[in-house]
Amino acid sequence: MREKLVWKQDYSVHVPALDAQHKTLMMINKLSEEECDHALVSWAFEELAVYVKEHFSEEEKRLEKAGYADLAAHKKEHRAFEQWLSAVRQTYAIGVTTPVLLSESVHAFLRDWLVNHILGSDMRYRDLLAEDV
Ligand code: FEO
Repeated sequence: MREKLVWKQDYSVHVPALDAQHKTLMMINKLSEEECDHALVSWAFEELAVYVKEHFSEEEKRLEKAGYADLAAHKKEHRAFEQWLSAVRQTYAIGVTTPVLLSESVHAFLRDWLVNHILGSDMRYRDLLAEDV
């Protein structure tokens, strides 16, 4: 059984709307090795597509409005996530992987994204956008 992603208060960027969107990534825990099937993979892809559409757009709008200096670099990381999602969906669609193998690679990617992007890049704007401290 792979390690679950668990939300911690330390992960908060102190913008409730953005935290709520970040928490949706914990949904990957539903893709456990035993239960993962085509229906769950399809569901996860849809959830990730919504995340990409809603979260990146809202975060970028807030950063732009606040005059965030590193916005271009931040957007680049978001575009890389979008490209990854598109590539992994295509790989799955052509049938070269199974739901279990697919879920393992998605889980690994999202764990790295949590550590490197949410806890790294996103944290760098926290002081600029914080609204609940
Ligand atoms: Fe919360 Fe930059 O993604």
